[in-house]
Amino acid sequence: MSRPRVLVTREVFDDVLEYLARHFDVTPNQADTPMSPAALAQALADKEGALTTLSERVDAALLAQCPKLKAVCNIAVGFNNIDLKACTERGVMATNTPGVLDDSTADFTWALILATTRRVTETEAWLRAGQWSGWKLKQFLGTDVHHATLGILGMGRIGQAVARRARGFDMTVLYHNTRRLSAEVEKSCHAAYVSMDELLARADILTLHMPYSPATHHIIGAKQLARMKNTAILINAARGGVVDDAALVEALKRGTLAAAGLDVFENEPTLNPEFLKLKNVVLTPHIASSTEATRRNMAMTAAENLVAALTTGKPPNLLNPPV
Ligand code: 8YV
Repeated sequence: MSRPRVLVTREVFDDVLEYLARHFDVTPNQADTPMSPAALAQALADKEGALTTLSERVDAALLAQCPKLKAVCNIAVGFNNIDLKACTERGVMATNTPGVLDDSTADFTWALILATTRRVTETEAWLRAGQWSGWKLKQFLGTDVHHATLGILGMGRIGQAVARRARGFDMTVLYHNTRRLSAEVEKSCHAAYVSMDELLARADILTLHMPYSPATHHIIGAKQLARMKNTAILINAARGGVVDDAALVEALKRGTLAAAGLDVFENEPTLNPEFLKLKNVVLTPHIASSTEATRRNMAMTAAENLVAALTTGKPPNLLNPPV
């Protein structure tokens, strides 16, 4: 019997390909050439499985062209690139990589918090441009992180990991989530549950940690930004689209919000060009999970999901059990 054929849509680590090759006939893309929807459909036409990333859209139109496909395993915890309903209707298992990237993403959220409040990237650019002529008392005054109020919107695994790290900064931690956490988890995070309005009004630093979905589209828009303190900063290492970027640009320009630290954007990798003109924004290219160990773990977890899906029909991180 011939081995199942699988596609790996983007470059991965060699050991991940070696692991997959023990089970499947693998078509890799180590040249890392991004695939258009047409190229993806063509590459998947005879495949039973795929290792995908955020860059590939898996929807009804694609699935209609891939009659053999049984499993799509995303190398990401987020899966807004996958239409789960369409997958279920076509009998295609979809999986993600929860758990393995929480700590790295939480660490990077702190990198954004500190870089934004203490103006790290702005001042480095200024220094590199040869503009430093001497020390001044009022030079690049930032805002304190210690003893400030941290607001966390979206208190899943990553939000909780961010909260636990706030203890070292003696912060007050408030959170809002679709479901309130158990008293035990709240205690371990030293976090207090508040309404969305209270969170917006009280946070000195507001950080977002929810998945992107129609329900969270522009959850931070002009109205929500207007409720925040004009000294507050906003951090987004969750997903582009949870923030209305145009409204955020306006708030940053007008000074109704002090600053923002952003790892994700609407329509990335194209970003609102106004961000590039603003000094009070720290910009990074969707790298919150990008450590050597974590990206390896993510890719291997996705590969293990694919092997389990096509050999046992029971991948550990199945997103659409009805399939
Ligand atoms: C990934 C992410 O790097 O896991 C996620 O949801 O946003 C990132 O960690 C990215 O999605 C790659 O597909």
